[in-house]
Amino acid sequence: MALPFELRLTLLVLSSIFIPIACKLFIVLIWKPLAIQSCFKKQGIGGPQRHLLHGSMQEMMSLEQEAINKPIEGFSHDIASRVLPAYHKWSKRYGELFLYWVGTEPRFCVTDADMIREMLKTKFGLFTKDDPIPALKALLGKGLVLATDEKWVEHRRVINPAFHVDRLKGMTKAMASCTISMLSTWTDEEKELEVHEQLKQLTADIIAQTAFGSSYREGKEVFTAQEELILMAIASFGDISVPGLQYLPTKRNRQLWKLEKRARDNLKFIINSRIRSAVKAGGFGDDLLGMMMESSRGEDGRMSMSLNEIMDECMTFFFAGHETTANLLTWAMFLLSIYPDWQTKLRQEVMDLCGRGTPDADMLGKLKLTNMFLMETLRLYPPVLLMLRKTAKELKLGNVLIPKDVTITLPILMVHRKPEYWGEDADEFNPLRFSQGLSRAGKHPNAMMPFSFGPRVCVGQSFAMMEGKLVLAMILQRYSFSLSPGYKHAPFRLLTLRPQFGLPILLQPVHV
Ligand code: HEM
Repeated sequence: MALPFELRLTLLVLSSIFIPIACKLFIVLIWKPLAIQSCFKKQGIGGPQRHLLHGSMQEMMSLEQEAINKPIEGFSHDIASRVLPAYHKWSKRYGELFLYWVGTEPRFCVTDADMIREMLKTKFGLFTKDDPIPALKALLGKGLVLATDEKWVEHRRVINPAFHVDRLKGMTKAMASCTISMLSTWTDEEKELEVHEQLKQLTADIIAQTAFGSSYREGKEVFTAQEELILMAIASFGDISVPGLQYLPTKRNRQLWKLEKRARDNLKFIINSRIRSAVKAGGFGDDLLGMMMESSRGEDGRMSMSLNEIMDECMTFFFAGHETTANLLTWAMFLLSIYPDWQTKLRQEVMDLCGRGTPDADMLGKLKLTNMFLMETLRLYPPVLLMLRKTAKELKLGNVLIPKDVTITLPILMVHRKPEYWGEDADEFNPLRFSQGLSRAGKHPNAMMPFSFGPRVCVGQSFAMMEGKLVLAMILQRYSFSLSPGYKHAPFRLLTLRPQFGLPILLQPVHV
């Protein structure tokens, strides 16, 4: 018996909707993951079990939860099991190369320095970056950290000159004046102080001052909104991403849009004022914003970057340059607190080269021991713990064939601790390993990578090192310090590597 026309029509409509959806789901949830898994399996690469929807996330989350509830015994630097517990466990169980899953997204973990060199240097163009979560997108727009392809090439060309060492030299004054301002609130007597928050505030001040110069006050407004966006980004990690949700006016989205608007309105105001005053002032100014605008201006006077793109880069400077440097300084102070002999050595070096005056860029360049010490701090406590890249097409890394659209995880911390590159004392503190320079510190020239390397190396590397040396030198000139008995050694990954319970120290003014 033939079905009535309406019923046939309804069935036809329904099947034309549901069959493509079912096919898509089959491909995303079953076909593609099985094909990728089998490609790796054939090459002898395994990994944790994959759940249809959450992939390996459940095990990952529960390992992370377990880890953050346990501080580390003593002051051991063997922190991988706490800050990257899943990678630590899986690399022990499945070998140094393994495949795991974030939902339906395959992730291939690589700690082999030769493969990493291929990825970041020789085959750099074959990789792209993943789509970020909405809060990170609101934070960084298409700024350098997230930009890809031609956009990245153009932005990097414009931004590089602003971070040139000669330009940075002119910024030490601004950095020093922010540091003096922080130190003026410290004490003349012995006192306990939580320094991690102070250093975060300081690095925020420094980036606002060096990025926006005279527009510092408006710049701080931008960063206050950005701080809130960062907190929202942190809170939304691990959320299951529902396509299209970012466009709905949910409570969280409305708050996100409001903050983004506040940050961008302020930036628009700063940039437009610069454009208006440029003719009279004879240029856009010598802060990071001014230099970036200058190098974006072509011979015909037109800007190669749009207003929105300049705003994205300003937001990126703050995001990429503030917490990272604060964490470098925090871990540096932690290490100097537990190795008082190194504190004495560095203070001596600073006093010999700079006396009690404010160090300038040339003096900072001569602080060899301080430089080695900061390198060892970055090796043991790298502020950026891991990087991600995505294969833009099928390719080979070493002997491993990797399909298109596989995300590669590069856990910097694990590379920094491999005995094969750093010897049996890989987890021990020994700045002298850097006495022959960076590339000779480990047994592989690329085993040290706190700022990444290759074309996408951190653009703010020299800025951060100069800031690190300057702030540390100015603290050492004035104070000696040790850990407060209340300190709990609990390194913690929250975007960057920070101390979970802050860094309380006992400060004592030095009289030399
Ligand atoms: C100790 C401090 C810092 C550390 C450890 C650090 C580390 C890194 C790392 C590992 C990357 C590569 C990320 C990736 O490719 O996935 C990176 C990129 C970047 N960093 Fe830094 N960074 C620091 C300070 C700064 C500062 C002070 C600034 C700017 C003021 C900055 C701006 C950037 C930018 C714009 C990128 C993207 C570069 C590109 O993709 O072309 N960083 N940083």
